[in-house]
Amino acid sequence: GSESKLQLVHRHIRAFPDFPKKGILFRDICPILKDPAALTAVIDLFEEHVKKNHKRVDLIAGLDARGFLFGPLLAQRMGVGFVLIRKKGKLPGATVSVAYDLEYGKAEAEIQADAVSPGQKVLLIDDLLATGGTLYAACELMRQQQAEVLGCMVVIELKELNGIDRVKPHSVFSLVQY
Ligand code: PRP
Ligand code: ADE
Repeated sequence: GSESKLQLVHRHIRAFPDFPKKGILFRDICPILKDPAALTAVIDLFEEHVKKNHKRVDLIAGLDARGFLFGPLLAQRMGVGFVLIRKKGKLPGATVSVAYDLEYGKAEAEIQADAVSPGQKVLLIDDLLATGGTLYAACELMRQQQAEVLGCMVVIELKELNGIDRVKPHSVFSLVQY
């Protein structure tokens, strides 16, 4: 067929009104994970973007929880390591954390203190950009650890929430926009 990788990805995203709260239109990426071709298309598109835009990448850092679905696949494809940015209280040992607001709540992001080293070039990955609070917190964690954020990558960007502005000056690359 002539369907593009982007069309394939787009076709595997569902919307659920009023989840998890009234007024939120929830974009569900589960059908992507259920379809190997769609999942491969996501990783292919991310990899193409990285190859085109970044000479050297040291690490991929993924956001809890849905960033964990795509991040390790991309990291393995690129031959780099993956580190976890988790919700507070889940990681053992010495950690650093940053609090942030979400489209539908509040949370705190945390990494292990030895996850990234000063000067390392890190790409951040998540499933979706809404208000940008989550990726902003992740960038802030990287700044505190003196790692360099090369950019952020998401499958979905919700444009009306202007998350891009929250994450500035870092760039956000997205595959699908609503
Ligand atoms: C969702 C989504 C992003 C974040 C985006 O995660 O997966 O991580 O919200 O929103 P923002 O741009 O307004 O910060 P959520 O915190 O619901 O957690 P989950 O991945 O554990 O479901
Ligand atoms: N995270 C924040 N806002 C979201 C939305 N509308 N759909 C799915 N995940 C989200």
